[in-house]
Amino acid sequence: MAAAVKLCAASTALNSMSKTRVLTGITTSGTPHLGNYVGAIRPAIAASRTPGVESFYFLADYHSLVKISEPARVQRSTLEIAAAWLACGLDPQSVWFYRQSDIPEISELTWLLTCVAGKGLLNRAHAYKASVDRNRAEGEDDDAGISAGLFMYPVLMAADILLFNAHKVPVGRDQVQHIEMARDFGQRFNHLYGQPSSREFFTLPEAAIEEQVATLPGLDGRKMSKSYDNTIPMFAPRAELKKLIAGILTDSRAPGEAKDTEGSALFQIYQAFATLEETAAMRQAYADGIGWGDAKQKLFERIDAEVSPLREQYEALIAKPADIEAILRDGAQRLRTAHATPSMQALRDAVGLRDLSNAGDAGTQASAKKADTALVPTFKQYRDADGKFYFKLMLGERVLLQSAGFASPRDAGERIAAIKQGTLDSDQLDFSLGDDVSSDDVNAALAAFVAAQLEGEADKS
Ligand code: TRP
Repeated sequence: MAAAVKLCAASTALNSMSKTRVLTGITTSGTPHLGNYVGAIRPAIAASRTPGVESFYFLADYHSLVKISEPARVQRSTLEIAAAWLACGLDPQSVWFYRQSDIPEISELTWLLTCVAGKGLLNRAHAYKASVDRNRAEGEDDDAGISAGLFMYPVLMAADILLFNAHKVPVGRDQVQHIEMARDFGQRFNHLYGQPSSREFFTLPEAAIEEQVATLPGLDGRKMSKSYDNTIPMFAPRAELKKLIAGILTDSRAPGEAKDTEGSALFQIYQAFATLEETAAMRQAYADGIGWGDAKQKLFERIDAEVSPLREQYEALIAKPADIEAILRDGAQRLRTAHATPSMQALRDAVGLRDLSNAGDAGTQASAKKADTALVPTFKQYRDADGKFYFKLMLGERVLLQSAGFASPRDAGERIAAIKQGTLDSDQLDFSLGDDVSSDDVNAALAAFVAAQLEGEADKS
């Protein structure tokens, strides 16, 4: 009996290993609106039903603290977002559905990653840089009013992703840099602590940008977003939904005049909810001069048809917040047992947060590791026949990067220093990849390079 149970556990472990793990977080900083529904909730729930996929959806409540300092709003938003996902059909028994702050291993891993994250790389994070730029424009000190939370945001996000070895992370374009940073931190950690003969600790995640998913325009025609105050709340009561739709910006063409579908927010929103046939019929109605009032009525009916069963579910769920609390806690508890706690145990061991009673072989392990890292990438600088100054990044005999010519050795040196500090800034096309070299090869080599330097410095101190 016991043997059978073991076998069964082993095969589920294998099973889940071969699945693609898709993970995404939703910051709990607002009320779900139709843009969230069309752009995130609806496609994610459809994707969660794909065979061969193990899905992780979580409420990123730690992240919300970076933006919001009103406790009641954090709590309310967490409740509303959880209820919205459940109302839309997310099945907490077939996907991992949890609240970030219920998994203490996430914040524990955040510290381990903080210790391998390059500060220079974090300096270049878009959100942080935008805040610095705003301060500069206003003549303030660079970091005025900027919390370390904003600065560390990408490290926390990397912990969310790396702890569960996610393969794919569906995100908007604005988040792609964060995924690249997670890869960078994961790579550095793997290099510093991975045993070459056995496993790497972290899977390097990829951003999955859903190109075909529409971004929904809001009431004023700009992207529907809380920051533009142009949203239609997903579960607005019918009368309010109708009123909001009546307020969608249109041009002033009269009934009977042909209308443009191009650039019409009303048409784009309609399209996001309608079948192909319905969209074709609406296109025809525009050409035939449908009045804006009638078009708005049709849009209202179409949205309401899709949303009203969800609204009923939502209202039932939100009336019982204790049930939602129980669902979230249960998800987190099961996920900790299955993944977070054992993974964190292995990670603690990897960095040396270990049981002291078996410290005997520490020295031999360290020397075994040194031998393996013999192949360290190096920068070679030289002057060519054209009188310009160049550099190459070499790994053994292999050329990973070839620079363009620089006017002075100092320019070349500065570029090398910048590359050493963080990842490549690929906007700056003053180098090219060697033959058969991918940017991942280069990033791996650079991670190795930085790690070797860190080791060197650690040895000195
Ligand atoms: N930063 C993401 C956003 O603003 C939310 C988020 C937090 C996230 N942790 C994540 C998304 C991990 C994907 C994976 O949209």
